[in-house]
Amino acid sequence: MKIGIPAEIFPNELRVAATPKTVKRLQKQGFEVFIQHDAGLKANFSDKEFEEAGAKIISTASEIYSKSDIVLKVKEPSVEEVGMMREGLVLLSYLWPAQNQPLLQKLADQKVNAVAMDAIPRISRAQKMDVLSSMANIAGYRAVIEGSYHFGRFLNGQITAAGKVEPAKVLVIGAGVAGLAAIGAANSLGAIVRAFDTRKEVAEQIESMGAQFLTVEINEDGATASGYSKEMSKEFIDAEMALFKAQAAEVDIIITTAQIPGREAPKLILADHVAVMKPGSVIVDLAASSGGNCVLTKNGEVYTTPNGVTIIGKLSQLPSQASQLYGNNLCHLLDDMGKADKFKIDMEDAVVSRAMVTYNGKINWPPAPLPVSPAKPKVAAVEVEDPKVVAERKNKKETRSMIVRLGVIGLFLLMLGRFAPSEFMQHFTVFVLAVFVGWQLIWNVSHSLHTPLMAVTNAISGIIIVGGLLQTTDDLSSPLTILASVAILVASINIVGGFVVTHRMLKMFKK
Ligand code: NAI
Repeated sequence: MKIGIPAEIFPNELRVAATPKTVKRLQKQGFEVFIQHDAGLKANFSDKEFEEAGAKIISTASEIYSKSDIVLKVKEPSVEEVGMMREGLVLLSYLWPAQNQPLLQKLADQKVNAVAMDAIPRISRAQKMDVLSSMANIAGYRAVIEGSYHFGRFLNGQITAAGKVEPAKVLVIGAGVAGLAAIGAANSLGAIVRAFDTRKEVAEQIESMGAQFLTVEINEDGATASGYSKEMSKEFIDAEMALFKAQAAEVDIIITTAQIPGREAPKLILADHVAVMKPGSVIVDLAASSGGNCVLTKNGEVYTTPNGVTIIGKLSQLPSQASQLYGNNLCHLLDDMGKADKFKIDMEDAVVSRAMVTYNGKINWPPAPLPVSPAKPKVAAVEVEDPKVVAERKNKKETRSMIVRLGVIGLFLLMLGRFAPSEFMQHFTVFVLAVFVGWQLIWNVSHSLHTPLMAVTNAISGIIIVGGLLQTTDDLSSPLTILASVAILVASINIVGGFVVTHRMLKMFKK
């Protein structure tokens, strides 16, 4: 089967749908690969590199579209590009089907079987094909880097001889893939990070990334079975905007990533929010291409408002890395569709059937909703006992078993005392009691105290070594010397082992 990769025609699109590495991978999957002349130039991949990887260079797009069985693209095709496509062609590309009905109609009329890479369903199996996640991860990181460049101050706090520098405050709105990547990057640069999302389930993720989770007093959750957020009520959005207005006056950088699939991005930062921001502050609007989360964002532009706030409506794409990740996502999907020898459009498959937006001349959008796993059966209510009562019962049980054990030991010593010499009995009683008390002590130490316990056992082992050394004589065959040597050996193993374990534990905390 033949795969073709045309050059992207949109002037601001720097990515390409394959890299020399993914070309090799596609060939391993059994495909023959054709790529248009200079298709990878803007992403820093030359024709020579593609040729060395095994691709054939083709001079025109029309040749690519007429020769290939499958075409890999980044940006949705223009009307002219669709016109060049042959009947039965499989197209893998961004398509934004919810916003591009006329394009879908054109593809269906042309009998192109088109997979919208932006419509891959959010199920665990499809994570490796999820282009939105791959790209959002890059965007989140770049938002912090470019935001801090325009901010023009340290993000971390510093105490220098010249004076103290306060850390910058960053607010991240929307903690999906891009938002979490932004929180991670801002946190690692030392900023104080706060974050907000309509899906309550992300609170833990936000906190685990080191940011403070902001919330509103309205009990509404944005989470849906698809993994994306739903459109929130007006009441919720109003409460959210009031929160952002208070934050806007305080924070230095706002990064917005809030999106609702298939809809315009919610407007969350209004002109009066921008008006209260400090001069020199920055807004990075990652939703700029879908209308922007800030009303003042200009898509594709970076500009500064009269009150000195820089609003960023475009980010660098990191085209080489983005192409590599996008190309990997495509390879994973083709792998799933059976590679070259068993390639099949399986409309029973949960991923293919939902992302294949035109099939056999028909539009297949919107897709059937993902089946939701049945709710877990409710567990019958269990009566919870008062923890105090449980602890008392446990204590009583332990005391009873200790009395029994002490009784058994006492009985044993009494029996032994009838036959053994009195000098031996004196030492033996101390030994048995020491073992009993030691065992009781160590058994009840909680795990969190094992490190200090190790220090105590090392000290005891040290005393054993000193005692052992005092007992050894020149007579290597005497039982006393043999016993003392065994005691020295075992105590030494305990000490050395303790150091090795501590060293390993410390290594876990070193970067
Ligand atoms: P997205 O780009 O559609 O939205 C970004 C974030 O904005 C989301 O967290 C959303 O809850 C939030 N948002 C929407 N409206 C908002 C509002 N009014 N105010 C504040 N925040 C708002 O979502 P993204 O980043 O693509 O992914 C969302 C989730 O999907 C991820 O966190 C993850 O749990 C899940 N996911 C699952 C995948 C899979 O299983 N294959 C792959 C990728 C993501």
